[in-house]
Amino acid sequence: MIVAIDGPAGAGKSTVAKILAKRLGFLYIDTGAMYRALTLKALDNNVDINDECKVNKLALEANIDLCNNLDGSLSVILDGKDVSLDIRQPRITQVVSEVSKIKGVRQVLVKMQRELGKKGDCVLEGRDIGTVVFPHAQKKFFIDASVKVRVNRRFKELKGLNQNIAEDDVARDLSNRDKIDSTRQVSPLRKADDAFFIDTTELSVEGVVEKMLELCKVNG
Ligand code: DC
Repeated sequence: MIVAIDGPAGAGKSTVAKILAKRLGFLYIDTGAMYRALTLKALDNNVDINDECKVNKLALEANIDLCNNLDGSLSVILDGKDVSLDIRQPRITQVVSEVSKIKGVRQVLVKMQRELGKKGDCVLEGRDIGTVVFPHAQKKFFIDASVKVRVNRRFKELKGLNQNIAEDDVARDLSNRDKIDSTRQVSPLRKADDAFFIDTTELSVEGVVEKMLELCKVNG
């Protein structure tokens, strides 16, 4: 069974997707981490991210793997190296949306995501899972929250990673990414027609997970 969770940054996708996967005993696949890993590879190899040909070539060469650890965490492996923390750096967050709007990049990563999805039951989170990657997913969710709450959640998350970043900068980054992710030509962020919409603004993490578990039990 495939569970697709889409939504903008800070809506709470990663948090709930991880818990939901654990509760269901499914694999957890964070597709945003894959776009981040490729962005890291581009920056570390001094590849101009506006040079689509070069970035496409890099995507074809990249070996990106996701490992579900026993403690519920996810390790992101790029070309054999654990980059789980590196991909959360601000220099990656600032440009990842530019890299992920490139058509060739999406073709390569979507193919990888479909392969990962063949490994068994999984919960995948991203922007285009229910619309493009797995349009026939058995369960689809689109989660969102008010901009204020999303900024605050992202700010707290980055603080937890010891990143000294002002809340205003988090707000600017989020609104910039929202704009690029939802207006790009190839597979923009949008709710699939058959996805359940959940507004997480006023809900606790447990509240969202319970709602999703309930909906996963419903047939059809
Ligand atoms: O979920 P995240 O913030 O880690 O994702 C980083 C970026 O990757 C996000 O700004 C857009 C892109 N992304 C995408 O285009 N498609 C996906 N399925 C997942 C992420």
